[in-house]
Amino acid sequence: MSTSDQHSALLEIDEYIERLFVPSDPLFEHALRDAKDGGLPPINVSPNEGKLLYLLAKLSGAKRVLEIGLLGGYSTMWLAKAIGPQGHLVTLEVDEKCVKVARKNLERAGLLSRVDIRHGDARVTLEKMVGANEAPFDLVFIDADKPSYPIYLDYTMRLTHPGSLILADNVIRDGKVARDGQTDPLVLGIQEFNRKLAANPKLESIMVTLLREALDGLAITRVKD
Ligand code: SAH
Ligand code: DHB
Ligand code: MG
Repeated sequence: MSTSDQHSALLEIDEYIERLFVPSDPLFEHALRDAKDGGLPPINVSPNEGKLLYLLAKLSGAKRVLEIGLLGGYSTMWLAKAIGPQGHLVTLEVDEKCVKVARKNLERAGLLSRVDIRHGDARVTLEKMVGANEAPFDLVFIDADKPSYPIYLDYTMRLTHPGSLILADNVIRDGKVARDGQTDPLVLGIQEFNRKLAANPKLESIMVTLLREALDGLAITRVKD
């Protein structure tokens, strides 16, 4: 099978799973449409990955969630839905245009009251959060600029508690992470993040591959007791 045949076979499976388990929801569709119309890049999690985030949040019973990388609020909507009306989600975003689009999407979906959008460079916001001794989060979803992933992991360690769940998107990058001699700073950042995750004795982790435009993956980590 050629690479493109393999890719279309995988896409067919991805669509099959989506048809069965992620029935289309007008609010989620509307959010993606508005992100596109607003000129945001289509780098949101896929519907299937969104459902996976939702299920992981529910299974872990998370009530306090931190998201790093909001974009148009698509993944935010999945996580906010999972934590219920008593939940609280803080999401960090540097791009003002994203903040505007996402706020509208969350408002339309009736989820804005449980979401706290913090505009600014996440590295600065996280430093402030640690400095302010903010209450720890039950779940952290890392999905912003890839070169900063190792720094985001350091902050995440200071903003979680034993039993917290840490999720990180885009940890496979079409398999490039598995090959030496990479020069792309995005891939290098992820490679360093993956090594740090694996080496941290306070964490237990695995990665699952997911189909996007190319093969990518989600890291799933639990902070040990
Ligand atoms: N979680 C979103 C996708 C996030 S894409 C979803 O799945 O729907 C990555 C986002 O991170 C972009 O919106 C980008 O503007 C933001 N970002 C990049 N660098 C950042 C930084 N230093 N601080 C905060 N946000 C950043
Ligand atoms: C990119 C970022 C993402 O969060 C994603 O899911 C896919 C691609 C990127 O910056 O290339
Ligand atoms: Mg991503």
